[in-house]
Amino acid sequence: MNLTPGERFIAVEKTLLHISVLSDAKDVLLLFISTPPEYRRQGYANKAMEELCCACDENGLRIFLYAAPDPASGFSLEDIITWYMRWGFTPHRKRNSQALMRMPK
Ligand SMILES: CC(C)(COP(=O)(O)OP(=O)(O)OC[C@H]1O[C@@H](n2cnc3c(N)ncnc32)[C@H](O)[C@@H]1OP(=O)(O)O)[C@@H](O)C(=O)NCCC(=O)NCCS
Repeated sequence: MNLTPGERFIAVEKTLLHISVLSDAKDVLLLFISTPPEYRRQGYANKAMEELCCACDENGLRIFLYAAPDPASGFSLEDIITWYMRWGFTPHRKRNSQALMRMPK
């Protein structure tokens, strides 16, 4: 996975990751993650998240995101935050539970 500084779309099988790697090359913003409706609930986003998290672990990068699920996806905000937390994300702003961060392992 290309984690050099810059903004790009990365396809991991059926799931698209929109990321921006900051110029300090220490932080990644996960701007959006999406799986086409016909491929949802088949594990594709889990695979994409695994690939992103592994690549960030290998390179010592933090990941930041703002949880705001598309209502059409059927995901509630609570459910998607729970899903991100399973990948090691934690809230990093006291008054905003949608702002999540993951430290590299
Ligand atoms: C969020 C999204 C990327 C998930 O993609 P996906 O390929 O369907 O996800 P997966 O099949 O890998 O499922 C991931 C987990 O979420 C669960 N899940 C999937 N859709 C769900 C839903 N609508 N409600 C609750 N849980 C859901 C799955 O059961 C799975 O859990 P598990 O790991 O315990 O089995 C997809 O719904 C999407 O593209 N939504 C529109 C864009 C969006 O809202 N992006 C998130 C912005 S914060």
